[in-house]
Amino acid sequence: MDLKDKTIIIFGASSGIGEALATELSKNNRVCTFSRRPFPKPNDNILNFEGDVRNKQNIKDAIDMCKSKWAVIDGFIYSVGQAQITDFKNFKADDVKNLMDTNFFGFLNSLECVLPDLLKQKTGIIAVVSALMLNRSLPNGASYFGTKAAMHVFFEGLRMDLENQGIEFFEIRPGLVDTPMSRSMEVKSDKMWSGEKAAQHIVKQIKRKETDISFPLDLKILTQSMNILPDSTYFKLIKSQMDKSFRNRPKSES
Ligand SMILES: NC(=O)c1ccc[n+]([C@@H]2O[C@H](COP(=O)([O-])OP(=O)(O)OC[C@H]3O[C@@H](n4cnc5c(N)ncnc54)[C@H](OP(=O)(O)O)[C@@H]3O)[C@@H](O)[C@H]2O)c1
Repeated sequence: MDLKDKTIIIFGASSGIGEALATELSKNNRVCTFSRRPFPKPNDNILNFEGDVRNKQNIKDAIDMCKSKWAVIDGFIYSVGQAQITDFKNFKADDVKNLMDTNFFGFLNSLECVLPDLLKQKTGIIAVVSALMLNRSLPNGASYFGTKAAMHVFFEGLRMDLENQGIEFFEIRPGLVDTPMSRSMEVKSDKMWSGEKAAQHIVKQIKRKETDISFPLDLKILTQSMNILPDSTYFKLIKSQMDKSFRNRPKSES
């Protein structure tokens, strides 16, 4: 599908990757932005709705608002996400459930509300922002990476089952992008992309019909190699990296 003159809903557009995507796409398309906070840089091609993806009625209301202004919806991008540190010494199943409700079940709510129109129209796009690390966890990352693995496997099945229905599917797998989320986790790397650079790359890849949008290339290659390592080797590798970072940490932090 040509990404021009289309109406796209972006879930999770008040900051970070979703915000940058909304700005980029609104240059040539109509964009409905959906998040709990308002979209910060409105323009004539943007219609903002404040809602929560855990609330299906909010999503239905946003779709109605969007259709009453622009008649049809051509697809959606799910860029909603929250990070969470998993601490098994103070483990609460409800914390993980809450994270799943936002990172995974919110996508299912969005899908349930938009998919019937796309199936009827026999055209449209569905894109999700997952992550480069899909079938591996990291220390303290059980909950967050659990939500990403669930999303990846579900999305793969969705793509398989709806092949030949005229809908195009895109899985966006960022490595490191400078956003409020990565800043809150104190992630720092010279491989970090800006939101704008990530958004331009994503839009370019969607136009090229590249269904797996993984970036940057060097981190993509690194994580793909980790995916095929035997578990025992992966565990040793992560342990040695953790030991190294503890050895290099100033005494006051240890
Ligand atoms: N940044 C990275 O390096 C990186 C790497 C890999 C994957 N990702 C993934 O990329 C996606 C976007 O993250 P980001 O880095 O751009 O973080 P971000 O700036 O924190 O954006 C997250 C977005 O999700 C929205 N959101 C959260 N809970 C919501 C809810 N219940 N209902 C509606 N909207 C909700 C937030 O808006 P409100 O708070 O206003 O609702 C915000 O617009 C996430 O899925 C994240 O896991 C990011």
